[in-house]
Amino acid sequence: MIAEAARRLKSGLCVAMPTETVYGLFCDSSNESALAAVYALKGRPPSNPLIAHVLDIAMAKRTTFGFDARAEKLAAKYWPGPLAIVLPRRPEIAAVGVGGRGTVAVRAPAHPVALAVLERVGSALSAPSANRSGHISPTTPQHVADEFRNIEDLLILDGGACNFGIESTVLDLSRARPMVLRPGAIGESDLTPIIGAVSMPHLTKQDASPGTMAKHYAPSVPCESVKPNALVQRLFNQTVRTAVLAFSSDEVPAPHIKMEMPRDAHAYAQRFYAALREAEQSGASAVFIVAPEERDGLWVALHDRIRRAGA
Ligand code: TXA
Ligand code: MG
Repeated sequence: MIAEAARRLKSGLCVAMPTETVYGLFCDSSNESALAAVYALKGRPPSNPLIAHVLDIAMAKRTTFGFDARAEKLAAKYWPGPLAIVLPRRPEIAAVGVGGRGTVAVRAPAHPVALAVLERVGSALSAPSANRSGHISPTTPQHVADEFRNIEDLLILDGGACNFGIESTVLDLSRARPMVLRPGAIGESDLTPIIGAVSMPHLTKQDASPGTMAKHYAPSVPCESVKPNALVQRLFNQTVRTAVLAFSSDEVPAPHIKMEMPRDAHAYAQRFYAALREAEQSGASAVFIVAPEERDGLWVALHDRIRRAGA
């Protein structure tokens, strides 16, 4: 399957593959028509740039300018892993794959399947998450198949359920002061000891990253986050059957549907998108997500995704 995926990618086709964060819809970063096909399959706005996945630092240097000491230190510590670094782009990355920008986000994914394919192909592979634009990111091969039912012969490599479950941290090193464009598993406190201060713009700010518009990662039924102490009242007033992503201590009376979420942040992230999909398919007419009280570490990224799901 690895060889077949590499063959298809080299011939300009798209392939869905696992990464440690979410499944991606991959293609050759230098192939304009393959990149255009990825945008078309997803229904993604052409201005929203794709992440270029690389095998290692050497490949990252062949796709970017200015992969400096900061980038090297970060990559040495966190790659392969969920950190995408934005830098000026070399011509190897086609402009259509980055929405015409002068920069590209690069990351080495920590998944043996993605790395094996990258090694065989030998050059960067661009991929957005393998979902229709604006919908929930996929964390299993079945999720990908559900997103692209009508696409015959899309090769979907099976790497099991994703270990992290939410998308990578996107860090912009192309500007004077490093800026986190999208929070992820690598948090502010992981970055500052290595590169000093980073700005964390208010996370709803529309222009932080072209792709982080408020509504994103959202289920197709109305979804909102609810403070833990407001849940009882909100459900009491709720006239439609509602699926609730809740903790074991939360009470969810019938006819509403409780989807129990883990207390541990890592386990919560692993479960989050699958739970949203199950909520969507449960027949419920609305989704509530009980907003966790915790706000540090991985919860920063989780609050961001919870807010976007409900925006
Ligand atoms: O974990 C992940 O990052 C997954 C896996 C497949 O690698 N990919 C992913 O891709 O989430 P996507 O396209 O769904 O989200 C990429 C985000 C978008 O918000 C996009 O706007 C931002 O990264 N981004 C990519 N390249 C950028 C650039 N050159 N400048 C600013 N933002 C960029
Ligand atoms: Mg996405």
